[in-house]
Amino acid sequence: MSDALELATRALKHFNGGTTDQAPSQMRIPLTAYTDEVRFQKERQAVFFESPIAIALSLEISEPGDFQTQTVMNVPLLITRDTDGKAHCFINVCRHRGAKVCTAEKGHQSRFTCPYHAWTYSNRGALVGVYGEETFGEVDRDTMGLTQLWCEERAGVIFACLTPAKSFDIDAWLGPFASKLGDQDLLNWHLYETRYLPGAGWKATMDGYLEVYHHDSVHGKTVGPHTVGNLLVHDTWGAHQRMAFARKNINEFNGLGDSPEAQPEQYIRVIHSVFPNLSISAILGGHCLVGFIYPGETSRETLTRQLILSAAPPESEQDRDAVETFSQMTLQAVRDEDYALVATVQQALSSGANDSFLIGRNEPAVQHYHRMIEQICG
Ligand code: FES
Ligand SMILES: [Fe+2]
Repeated sequence: MSDALELATRALKHFNGGTTDQAPSQMRIPLTAYTDEVRFQKERQAVFFESPIAIALSLEISEPGDFQTQTVMNVPLLITRDTDGKAHCFINVCRHRGAKVCTAEKGHQSRFTCPYHAWTYSNRGALVGVYGEETFGEVDRDTMGLTQLWCEERAGVIFACLTPAKSFDIDAWLGPFASKLGDQDLLNWHLYETRYLPGAGWKATMDGYLEVYHHDSVHGKTVGPHTVGNLLVHDTWGAHQRMAFARKNINEFNGLGDSPEAQPEQYIRVIHSVFPNLSISAILGGHCLVGFIYPGETSRETLTRQLILSAAPPESEQDRDAVETFSQMTLQAVRDEDYALVATVQQALSSGANDSFLIGRNEPAVQHYHRMIEQICG
């Protein structure tokens, strides 16, 4: 049975029965998990600096020689693809006296010359040129390349670890979830738009990505009309999660079962949540919403790098209108609905109204995310 068929079948069963996937019990999360700055710093270090995180999609540097820069949680990164097609991630800081080596956002070049004193590095990180070396004195090329971070690419996602010299087994980290991600065919999508959205604190923001319980009330004008509220099909692979929602047309799937014309993907929406910071929401109609969510310097803010993808580059006016409409709709749903609502949660965390939050049985993905943080932070 295909994944889409399995998910649509499970979603339909819930729809017919008025049910949803549930956790075995409710969960209490003390508010200090959201507000304690010492705890936040420890968790941010363990989860975002000493574990693999997703930093980009492969399609953002699709060709050998492509590069991209980003600042992730205050760490300037240079992400390159070498002539063998391998992706690298470096700290975008010169080894001479620390200037930012590459100031362009993205482009295509295999050498990077520091704007300060013109030391030059290859896109594999090697120091290949020292201006005026006869006066500077000899520089040991082998130890003075760009600081390289562990970086691996799977299923169209580039992963890195922000702590130099730390490395991971990416296949063990992703497990069978890699093939679920691979099925999303992310390599072949087209990048339409990238934007940054500031938001409330890390956990309050992530909670909103991990349940469908709020869809009818918060998204009444955007995604709400297209999906069945409070109906979630939920699976986990290690720390990673997949959530499927039923589209409003799910009723029409009744009786179709596994007939060849059934097209089960027509009746669901699927979100892949790569722990701890990537959400991939492929939407029917050839559009995809991707969010890289990073904690800020304190527990009170996040920054989301949001990507809008289309299945193919928009060619006609009609294609462009469709992807632009999708882009605006998701901006409204995430910035003006989700993030605006979560800002009210953030503002009132220290109001004294709650000393814990009660997470429902119908919010299993929220529960799972918080458990995984605890597991990693031990
Ligand atoms: S700081 Fe880069 S060459 Fe001096
Ligand atoms: Fe939402």
